[in-house]
Amino acid sequence: MKALILVGGFGTRLRPLTLTLPKPLVEFANKPMILHQIEALVKAGVTDVVLAVNYKPEVMASVLKKYEEKFGIKITFSVENEPLGTAGPLALARSILCKDDSPFFVLNADVTCDYPFKEMLAFHTAHGCEGTILATKVEEPSKYGVIVTESNSSLIKCFVEKPVEFVGNRINAGIYIFNPSIVDRIELRPTSIEKEIFPAMAANEQLHTFDLEGYWMDVGQPKDFIAGTCLYLSSLAKKQPELLASPVDNDFVNGGNVLVHPTAVIGNGCKIGPNVSIGPNVIIGDGVRLEKCVIMEDVQIKSYSFVRNSIVGWHSSVGSWSRLDGVSVLGDDVHINDEIYVNGAQILPHKSISANVTEPKIVM
Ligand code: GDD
Ligand code: MG
Repeated sequence: MKALILVGGFGTRLRPLTLTLPKPLVEFANKPMILHQIEALVKAGVTDVVLAVNYKPEVMASVLKKYEEKFGIKITFSVENEPLGTAGPLALARSILCKDDSPFFVLNADVTCDYPFKEMLAFHTAHGCEGTILATKVEEPSKYGVIVTESNSSLIKCFVEKPVEFVGNRINAGIYIFNPSIVDRIELRPTSIEKEIFPAMAANEQLHTFDLEGYWMDVGQPKDFIAGTCLYLSSLAKKQPELLASPVDNDFVNGGNVLVHPTAVIGNGCKIGPNVSIGPNVIIGDGVRLEKCVIMEDVQIKSYSFVRNSIVGWHSSVGSWSRLDGVSVLGDDVHINDEIYVNGAQILPHKSISANVTEPKIVM
């Protein structure tokens, strides 16, 4: 089976992390975001993956080469000269997507969920129409694409991208299955699948929706990246609790949902959790308190500091008795001195912080 992942963009909303790594390679729960998707696709029988990108893919190419070998799949970079939007890349990859009659998956690269690929495929095959959109429900639908159906029907009546007025709260989760015939609807130019292609397919009664059970999040910005991590860890706690730090064996675990890389070292008297992801080679000092946060590879969190609702980027450090809160994001190699308070700051790579940052701002 085939799949195309819309990798696109520069990930500006996930800066400063994306100043260092392309968004798909940023680790989500200690694994590059795109690897979560590729693993799930492989499990569903996908052997041919197209990555639709509009920047030079060198960094990604070397990492993904390894996945090709590991999973025995073919990964092709489809590189756009100008951004082709969310539909144009399907036309660009026509030779792969239309090489046989079988349907293919399309994924937005920045969404996380319990990918129901097999169930979706069975549903898509059963209804026989051109496309299936995975749907989830959210409280604030205005930043998504909204799906409208008749009650008790999966046939989509209309699709409204980023509605200004409320039309419903069942939204496009950014995961699709299409028959190759969809490519005949798309010209090779910048095109929005949500604004141009879905409304036409809905009008032709060729588009169905499949409801996702379980969690879902677009993790393309820091607040949602943290929220998505919490949802993912909660799901692990139910499905694969052995991957999380056991509260029985680890007295630092507070409230559960704590993922600790085996190479990380945790000091004495720490209180960690709920909802914390700790990366490789991290060193946590004594008496540290961590809650609802992501600590990336090679970070040092010094004694008695407190990190909450924040992301600490690779190779950074947080000084003793310091405090990080309010969706702060430290880029690569950022150093927070001892006894510093940082609230809601986005700190660009290679900075040292020696004065409090009490209000949300970008430090460059
Ligand atoms: N190759 C390529 N080229 N990819 C692109 C381009 C492009 O020009 N533009 C965007 N993408 C990729 C992004 O990298 C992302 O993976 C996906 O397409 C969606 O773009 P976003 O910019 O993240 O869109 P959004 O989050 O505002 O809205 C989309 O996702 C929502 C779910 O998270 C829409 O599909 C909504 O309908 C949907 O609800
Ligand atoms: Mg998005």
